[in-house]
Amino acid sequence: MQLGPTGRPLRDFPEPQPLSTHGPARIIAMVNQKGGVGKTTSTINLGAALAEYGRKVLMVDFDPQGALSAGLGVSSHELDTTVYNVMMERNVHARDAIVPTNVEDVDLLPANIDLSAAEVQLVNEVAREQVLARALRDVADDYDVILIDCQPSLGLLTVNALTAAHGVIIPLIAEFFALRAVALLVETIEKVQDRLNPDLNIDGVLATMYDARTLHSREVVTRLVEAFGDKVFETVIRRTIRFADATVAAEPITSYASNHQGADAYRQLARELIARGGAP
Ligand SMILES: Nc1ncnc2c1ncn2[C@@H]1O[C@H](COP(=O)(O)OP(=O)(O)O)[C@@H](O)[C@H]1O
Ligand SMILES: [Mg+2]
Repeated sequence: MQLGPTGRPLRDFPEPQPLSTHGPARIIAMVNQKGGVGKTTSTINLGAALAEYGRKVLMVDFDPQGALSAGLGVSSHELDTTVYNVMMERNVHARDAIVPTNVEDVDLLPANIDLSAAEVQLVNEVAREQVLARALRDVADDYDVILIDCQPSLGLLTVNALTAAHGVIIPLIAEFFALRAVALLVETIEKVQDRLNPDLNIDGVLATMYDARTLHSREVVTRLVEAFGDKVFETVIRRTIRFADATVAAEPITSYASNHQGADAYRQLARELIARGGAP
């Protein structure tokens, strides 16, 4: 029997059934307080792959850097209405800020540097952890999946994302130093479960930038499976320059290099997520 990179038997996940009706959305936060681990890349490409399978997807840029918006070809620094205004102004609704993207069935709630002020301003809000959840309630029926691309921090914005979400996906680089950060992240998730969102589920841990040629990468994935068991996605994302190329082109890899193994990896992740019940 051939084993996959996570040490479990290699298998394929079934082609998902088409949906006849849409919504309400399952909301998934992409979280890791470390930067550069593949949160934004995974949001764009998992979302695009889910859309290829007929799911209606909203991506929420929840990082003041606006990398998700840029990666989808949206110049968010020129926008007056972003997720920041939706959160901070009572008369601005998610629908006022959501924009379509060039990817069919993918919409974007953009962010820009304005969002960096929210962390401080939210401190004085009533129910400050629930502001994003409330904002997304208005549009949840329009989508099957909402993916929130978090900033690299465990601050109040990320807590808002965890409070709004049904599930969390933790992307992390398949390197040893990555393992330490996860303990703190899991602690934060458990606090949110205790105090704010008891139904929050860890949907999965996603190994990114995996290099099958190195023992190191393989050992890290083995350790991840020891720590997280079946929570580790069987799908791993290999290291390839094509993701950076696709970012420059402001496209998901699923359209930029549709036949590349990186595109297939995110399609497999979408199928695995659906097969596990993490998406409709
Ligand atoms: N599987 C991968 N292989 C190689 N480079 C990747 C991969 N995934 C992401 N990258 C690159 O790594 C950098 C950080 O990825 P990004 O998704 O922006 O991380 P984060 O959102 O966690 O900060 C980007 O330049 C991106 O193009
Ligand atoms: Mg990012």
